[in-house]
Amino acid sequence: MLLKNKVAVVTGGNSGIGKAIVLELARRGAKIVVDYVSHPDAAAELEKRVASLGDQAIGVEADVSQLADLERLIATTVKAFGQLDIMINNAGIETRTSVLETTEQQYDKVLQVNLKSAFFGTQLAAKQMIKQGGGGRIINITSVHEDWPMPGNTAYCLSKGGMRMLTRTAGVELARHNILVVGVGPGAVATPINLSTMQNPDEMAKLDAAIPLGRMAQPEEIASVVAFLAGDGASYMTATTVFADGGLMQSSPGL
Ligand SMILES: NC(=O)c1ccc[n+]([C@@H]2O[C@H](COP(=O)([O-])OP(=O)(O)OC[C@H]3O[C@@H](n4cnc5c(N)ncnc54)[C@H](O)[C@@H]3O)[C@@H](O)[C@H]2O)c1
Repeated sequence: MLLKNKVAVVTGGNSGIGKAIVLELARRGAKIVVDYVSHPDAAAELEKRVASLGDQAIGVEADVSQLADLERLIATTVKAFGQLDIMINNAGIETRTSVLETTEQQYDKVLQVNLKSAFFGTQLAAKQMIKQGGGGRIINITSVHEDWPMPGNTAYCLSKGGMRMLTRTAGVELARHNILVVGVGPGAVATPINLSTMQNPDEMAKLDAAIPLGRMAQPEEIASVVAFLAGDGASYMTATTVFADGGLMQSSPGL
């Protein structure tokens, strides 16, 4: 149990990659706060699954694009479990709109859910970790698109590029508190965010052909990277991103 006595928050933790992270951290002994904004039934079900693994989890409804909700999420975590050691900024959305199409509303929504939440999630978690002493881990779920343009998904790419610099800047600033900040950049993962692609055989064939490993990742293959970064084995990693993309970024310019 490598994360015994650690307390983790996972934003957007009741679906896809977040859900897999919750289960993997719980398997390694952590206590978990599952943040959700919709489908409370999925968060409640997850609490039960985590409890059956012998750990404790609670669900907290919080819209992480709102600072007041994030403050309540962290306060509830500390009230329930006494501390916060691992912050996973995972919640994310996309609009699949181009530079020419994206509306002000779409721009604001994507930047707020993806980037503003990660910024203030990092800030609030770091303040709590500094208060506790003893350091901590902040893991930002970015994307290959923190670095790699995706025509037709502009706001998403902007938000992930912002998370890249958040990770690097906060990692440098917070190092003296032994708070390590790392990004995890998945390639294509089989989750609800990719439902339309997954339901289109032609698009799936094109995607699989572009990935050197020949397939999308399963959410658990991202969660295991996150769990490693949350543990003692990653004690010298900060201000950088670990990509888990099946080789995609190196092989498919312009996909
Ligand atoms: N699936 C992929 O191919 C892929 C690739 C790279 C990066 N990512 C990133 O992984 C993260 C998780 O995505 P996923 O693939 O599991 O998709 P998903 O749609 O299954 O999960 C996204 C989660 O974020 C939550 N969320 C959305 N808005 C929120 C808000 N305002 N407050 C709190 N929670 C909110 C959703 O309810 C959901 O639980 C995202 O940041 C996404 O950008 C995914």
